[in-house]
Amino acid sequence: MNVGVLVSGSGTNLQAILDAGARGQLGPARVVVVVSNVAGVRALARAEAAGVPTEVLPHQQFASRQAFDEALVATLKARGVELVALAGFMRLVTPTFLNAFVERVVNIHPALLPAFPGVHAQRQALDYGARITGCTVHFVDAGVDSGPIIAQAAVPVLDGDDEAALTARILVEEHRVYPAAIRAIAEGRVSIDGRRVTLLS
Ligand code: GRF
Repeated sequence: MNVGVLVSGSGTNLQAILDAGARGQLGPARVVVVVSNVAGVRALARAEAAGVPTEVLPHQQFASRQAFDEALVATLKARGVELVALAGFMRLVTPTFLNAFVERVVNIHPALLPAFPGVHAQRQALDYGARITGCTVHFVDAGVDSGPIIAQAAVPVLDGDDEAALTARILVEEHRVYPAAIRAIAEGRVSIDGRRVTLLS
């Protein structure tokens, strides 16, 4: 299964996915392209270092969100992408995008959804005083971090945590669950029934 990874920043989740692939732990999934909406980001360097083709589509150069998504779809389809993994991709996708990859767009979010959706999820958890947070891999729908949940991992909030410490602790779990979820999808072990996702072992 050809996977396209969309990024905007540091790309540690991309790295975890690439490393899992290199270790033979992605099953039939293979990252065939990494697309960023921001030039020069670390994620692009990570892809290049792994020999994965990259594309940059600066969203400011498009007249509308729709036009940007059409270009994104064309770029991914041209590479034969079948599964799209958002990994720190800081753009909302439109129905144009979702309709091109039905039930084939996944995201990772640094909180236990439905708690703390949107940006700064770790800061939200700290400000709320949550004692447990974590990460969520979910299918993407038209809302913000609202699609059916595929996998979650819990992470404790420790006394004295700041945003950086909590973010780092959550990332350890992100890097474990995201490649595993991608592998499960590629192996056909994931089915969706409404909001409920079944993961066969
Ligand atoms: C991660 O915390 C992910 O959950 C969120 O954006 C961050 C991306 O980090 N969606 P990285 O670029 O993978 O290092």
